[in-house]
Amino acid sequence: MARILTGIQSSGKPHLGNLLGAIQPAIALSENEANESFFFIADLHSLTTIKDPQIRVENTHAVAAAWLAFGFDTEKNTFYRQSRVPQVCELNWYLNCYTPFPMLANAHSFKDKSDRLADVNAGLFTYPVLMACDILLYDADIVPVGKDQKQHLEMTRDIASTFNHKHGDIFILPEAQIDETVMTVPGLDGQKMSKSYGNIIDIFQSDKELKKNINRIVSDSTPLEAPKNPDEDTTFALYSLLATPEQVATMRKNYLGGNYGYGHAKKALYELIIDKFAKERQVYNEYINDPDLIEKELAKGEEKAAAVAKKVLERVKKALGFA
Ligand code: TYM
Repeated sequence: MARILTGIQSSGKPHLGNLLGAIQPAIALSENEANESFFFIADLHSLTTIKDPQIRVENTHAVAAAWLAFGFDTEKNTFYRQSRVPQVCELNWYLNCYTPFPMLANAHSFKDKSDRLADVNAGLFTYPVLMACDILLYDADIVPVGKDQKQHLEMTRDIASTFNHKHGDIFILPEAQIDETVMTVPGLDGQKMSKSYGNIIDIFQSDKELKKNINRIVSDSTPLEAPKNPDEDTTFALYSLLATPEQVATMRKNYLGGNYGYGHAKKALYELIIDKFAKERQVYNEYINDPDLIEKELAKGEEKAAAVAKKVLERVKKALGFA
């Protein structure tokens, strides 16, 4: 039995990058009978950026509804909010004391913002340690994540190894599962799609909002009649991630043939999303319109998660002479 674990921050609405990089691969792993899955909403992590409690709750519900819309089985598995198992904060202190400063100073999540140090709070700086705790507290074996989380997983293993080296085999060393064939999904501006860059595609938006948002994808100014380079266009890149090989081949021909505008491609992307995710969009809306139902689903996992967390934390405290 392998324990699969992964989390998504509630720092914004769930987006296509989260879906392709984490939700779909994680759900596929969870459907294997030999696995047991712990999927959670990283609401404590979202406090590094989101200070408004109402917005955090809305985002938490949106991320939870996305997992549920893609069919995560909350009976067989463990589905919870990170903050409802506060043992993770206790472990966070212990592991902070085993994490070298230079390791954190080298983290992309910090380095990307280090030119604006006044905006970096201590939580953002130690963010990778809390992530390590999320994983180690649950004895996770496999962590399915997108490529952007690779460094965080390496840090988790480093912290766990340092601790184990001093205190015996306390932590399981987790393996990252990263589908290297899935590119980092680009956002509307062609940069990495990210909740913090304001460039996301939220596949659960209403038809009208989704269409409007897809029309914001940045394209160059090649005139309608002229042939276009599909390999340098964000709409084409996004379409390719979702379409069948035949559909992609047709789209490529259209780009190269001319008389096919970016507006046509955006319309095709919009229609593909509506069609491909029709069922998930409907289920998502059922949940999002019934927050109590989402809360019930999340509550189911809290006790199961806490039971594991308490056992592991006890092991750590004993090793440290605190219990
Ligand atoms: P977060 O919330 O930024 O992203 C959640 C998951 O989505 C993947 N992802 C992407 N994949 C492909 N293309 C993109 N543009 C893209 N954007 C995001 C991420 O790789 C991730 O798998 N620190 C984590 C949350 C976390 C966590 C954990 C994950 C907290 N504790 C423990 C795993 C295990 C984060 O900020 O992910």
